[in-house]
Amino acid sequence: MRAIAVTALHGEPALVELPKPDPGPGEVRVRIAYAALNPYDWQRADDPGAGTAPGGFPHILGVDFAGQVDMIGRGPSRFRVGDPVFGRVTTPLPGGGAYAEYVSVHQDSPIAPVPTGLSLKVAAALPTAATAACQILAATGAGEGESLLIVGAAGGVGSYLTQLASARSVRVLAAVRGDESRRMTILGAARTLDVSAGPEALPAALRELCPQGVDALADLVSETPDAFAEHAALVRDGGIALTTRGAGGTRTPHTGPLPVDFRLAPTALLLDALATSVTSGAFVVPIDLELPLEKAPEALAQNRAGGARGKTVFALRPCGAAGHHAP
Ligand SMILES: NC(=O)c1ccc[n+]([C@@H]2O[C@H](COP(=O)([O-])OP(=O)(O)OC[C@H]3O[C@@H](n4cnc5c(N)ncnc54)[C@H](OP(=O)(O)O)[C@@H]3O)[C@@H](O)[C@H]2O)c1
Repeated sequence: MRAIAVTALHGEPALVELPKPDPGPGEVRVRIAYAALNPYDWQRADDPGAGTAPGGFPHILGVDFAGQVDMIGRGPSRFRVGDPVFGRVTTPLPGGGAYAEYVSVHQDSPIAPVPTGLSLKVAAALPTAATAACQILAATGAGEGESLLIVGAAGGVGSYLTQLASARSVRVLAAVRGDESRRMTILGAARTLDVSAGPEALPAALRELCPQGVDALADLVSETPDAFAEHAALVRDGGIALTTRGAGGTRTPHTGPLPVDFRLAPTALLLDALATSVTSGAFVVPIDLELPLEKAPEALAQNRAGGARGKTVFALRPCGAAGHHAP
């Protein structure tokens, strides 16, 4: 099968030919129609732990997928061959990741049926980013009328989080680089703050908008505790300052906002709920780019450099839709 893999730590992702992964007991094999890009995919390839992971090398990149169940491993299963499913690869299985024509995953992992009316392409763009947005919103505790500053709001997680928060009447302040005001307003942002002018741009804008500080922060971009601390300083005392990049540091402050080091906890139940919400029109899936799998190495390099606007998906098969599901 075709797959995008790295063959060594810090190796360049490349198209490789590998055997199809046989499903083990309790697993299902999925013939993938679409995979979605997440920064985790290249971050994972850089992770020294990847070299000692059960999967080892070559390490197939990617975690988010949608496709059809193609084979079922030994034992009882909640799925049948032909079922359209989507989900997230949670462990680096020997079968590898989602940038491949097939993946074998345990039936108890976060995978869920794709409901009628939802395309496999849209389903593939949900697992990591939409789950993260949902759980980040819960972790911030932001409610009606409260302000939530999202730094990095134009990307995958931010585009979902803006919608989910504004649907709960949270006042979303979307910090982005560039002129994204129109797009972010459509997604539900109360204000879009272009921070590309430099580090003073955000504090200056917020001094006017929220003199007491924002109620909550979702920092999707800061890589270091110092950078995160600068954003956390914009949160009122007793508010929540959340990082998705492990930038919280170890200090427990006596005053100021409560730091939260967010960790995704995907579940099949939440995937089900998200899929249902999309089909009912509760939020839109912001797919920005659809590319063939072969373009994944360039797309990963581009994502690493920045500039993401919503989600990028990779098509494994041009006519990859399942039965009644539109492609
Ligand atoms: N901890 C967890 O469990 C968890 C779960 C999900 C995601 N994450 C992490 O959260 C991060 C965001 O994920 P994602 O899927 O949203 O990534 P993404 O789709 O690549 O989006 C990142 C966004 O941040 C923007 N950005 C970068 N630097 C910025 C800055 N200084 N100010 C404002 N915007 C900035 C980028 O656009 P520009 O470059 O044009 O500004 C882009 O729109 C990733 O690092 C991901 O790995 C962690």
